[in-house]
Amino acid sequence: MATAYSQASYRPLLKVAVVGHVDHGKSTLVGRLLNDTDSLPDGKVDAVAEMCRQRGMPFEWAFVTDALRAERDQGITIDASHIRFSDRTRDYVLIDAPGHREFLKNMISGASGCDAALVVIDAEEGVREQSRRHGYLLRLLGVRQIAVAVTKADRIDFDANRFGQIEAEFRRLLQELGLSPTAVVPVSGRDGDNIASPSENTPWYRGGTVIDALAAFQPAAPAVDRPLRIPVQDVYKFDTRRIIAGRVESGRISVGDEIVFSPSNRVARVKSIEGWSVESPIPYAEAGSPVGIMLEDQVFVERGQMISHLVEAPIETNVLRARIFWLRDELVGGGLVDMDGYPDQRQLITRRSTNVTAVDHAVTEEMRMLRNGHRGGVLWFTGLSGAGKSTIAIELEKLLFQKGYQVYVLDGDNVRHGLNANLGFSPEDRAENIRRVGEVAALMSQACFIVLSAFISPYRSDRERARLAAGNERFHEVYVSASLDVCEQRDPKGLYSRARAGEILDFTGISAPYEPPEACEIEIDTGELDLTRSLDKILSYIERHFPYAPRD
Ligand code: ADX
Repeated sequence: MATAYSQASYRPLLKVAVVGHVDHGKSTLVGRLLNDTDSLPDGKVDAVAEMCRQRGMPFEWAFVTDALRAERDQGITIDASHIRFSDRTRDYVLIDAPGHREFLKNMISGASGCDAALVVIDAEEGVREQSRRHGYLLRLLGVRQIAVAVTKADRIDFDANRFGQIEAEFRRLLQELGLSPTAVVPVSGRDGDNIASPSENTPWYRGGTVIDALAAFQPAAPAVDRPLRIPVQDVYKFDTRRIIAGRVESGRISVGDEIVFSPSNRVARVKSIEGWSVESPIPYAEAGSPVGIMLEDQVFVERGQMISHLVEAPIETNVLRARIFWLRDELVGGGLVDMDGYPDQRQLITRRSTNVTAVDHAVTEEMRMLRNGHRGGVLWFTGLSGAGKSTIAIELEKLLFQKGYQVYVLDGDNVRHGLNANLGFSPEDRAENIRRVGEVAALMSQACFIVLSAFISPYRSDRERARLAAGNERFHEVYVSASLDVCEQRDPKGLYSRARAGEILDFTGISAPYEPPEACEIEIDTGELDLTRSLDKILSYIERHFPYAPRD
């Protein structure tokens, strides 16, 4: 079983979902494809031809595929909807993803996890609602490589114009979904046109065959080449030893490697690795292998943690974007997690310094409150660029100062000149921007200031962290809620038009997300209220929550 630890005989395997309505010639295409690549068992075609003759039916390639399916159906291990075949360089699994409306669930389970899809469209029928739905589902499922076979081209007399119309229509549809087909091939399954060899019936067609289209698909990186992931299944204790058990899901782990446990962020070095059914210990293990790991260092590890290397560790986050779909044939739901535009929070939750002890102040908060005549706190203004956060905060600072308050504005554009001059607008940098400002605001509010912080702060989780830093009772989230349209029309710094022109990347509202508060203490819609009325609203809120009572 030593092979469990190496992949010496590895041949790339490409999983291709074949998507299309049953009547659109899917089985015929697959049967012909298997035949033309010598992938059928000897005598299979003859046997089907004989069966057709006996029953007085014309021979159809679809019967070959169906016969193959029926046989495999009776097998125990091979899924009836999976058909394997090989070309010179690699193996393929064609996964039948049924196209009827009732079978959308099967299509989803068939197509998810595929490297690519072959969409089948009937030349006579053209692009139908089904085809539209298929394109949409493939997009949702994250299948990015799509080739199209326009089948039954013989039934339209290999008409270049009709084919051109179908191609243009389907390309347009995919384009709306942000997809582009790698090939659109006119085929006839019946006669094998453009399936494994170029057809003489389509002299106007310049592209390759279906086999060429399959060969051009890129396979996903094999599991062993992906970053190391071992979910901890259990920790076994033998006398003083601890053995961490799990299965290497991807990557490779070696004795001496430094590994990190998520989400605890504990780091340790691998002392030894035990294999399963092999002579142990072993020097390394690869994807697919169950292992027991012993560490050089004593760190607390528990079931459910994830082992990785320090580089390419998994993203740690408590926010994510997911595309969720929900089908009402039956109650079926699914979704795809997409971290695009969201920060990795690992760095933010790792406390690096050890052996530090906080000191108590001799001047208490009560003493400061008595002197200032009011409590300290944070008014956290969040909203799109151009919503009016800074304008309100700066005017408010003046008004509160005139009334006698200790007040100070922390503003995004200002802080980014100094404290946060080393940060840009990537999700990670924004998260760090808000983390630092949140901590500064918390300190200043302890110093009994009213802090007016004006930052886009687009992520809810970052604002939550700022709230935790200051303490819930001191923190007041103010949503300055002008809509994107309004902000873009104002465009006070000309940044929206530059962002639209592609000159500024990751611009909030245009090419980076903004998550409005789900619950905030106060909302000011500057699309509705002018500056004076906005200030009135926030001032009365402050006078209620931070009454000013100076000492005589
Ligand atoms: S935050 O997202 O990290 O909270 P912050 O409030 O500090 O942003 O800074 C926002 C200001 O930076 C905007 O008002 C704008 O003037 C400027 N800016 C420059 N580039 C960008 C960008 N890509 N996205 C948003 N604002 C930007």
